[in-house]
Amino acid sequence: MLDKVAATIDGPLNRDEKLAQVARLLREAVPYYNWVGFYLVDAGRPGELLLGPFVGRATEHVSIPFGRGVCGRVADTEQTMVVQNVSELDNYLSCDARVRSEIVVPILKDGVFVGELDIDSHALAPFAEGDTALLERVAAMVSAVL
Ligand code: SME
Repeated sequence: MLDKVAATIDGPLNRDEKLAQVARLLREAVPYYNWVGFYLVDAGRPGELLLGPFVGRATEHVSIPFGRGVCGRVADTEQTMVVQNVSELDNYLSCDARVRSEIVVPILKDGVFVGELDIDSHALAPFAEGDTALLERVAAMVSAVL
């Protein structure tokens, strides 16, 4: 899995094609990863997360201000957030009623927050330490193309 991510990052595709391919690889590798996508920071729009490449159902949340929802909180804290049961959160932005849990991992480039990897699951509490470890590795690899 990580070999394929590395080959994608080093390969000939353009940036968005690489991000889409990484999202597809993750979704294919883990059955409870139902929506996999990237939110990215644009230098011209500070304080905002913009939806990047993703696989899964289309979402209305194409722009998320820092602080809002799980994604916006991770933008503020720059720390991975694991939500095993989204129904227990107040500040949650629902993309799809089937989603029960979510993990969001920040992507830092040279110490600067540049985006995040967001995964939604239809399973309740599916995430273990292995997910955080895997996704933080992937986020570090992806930072090379951001
Ligand atoms: N649930 C996220 C919004 C993004 S969708 O999951 C794709 C949140 O609360 O920030």
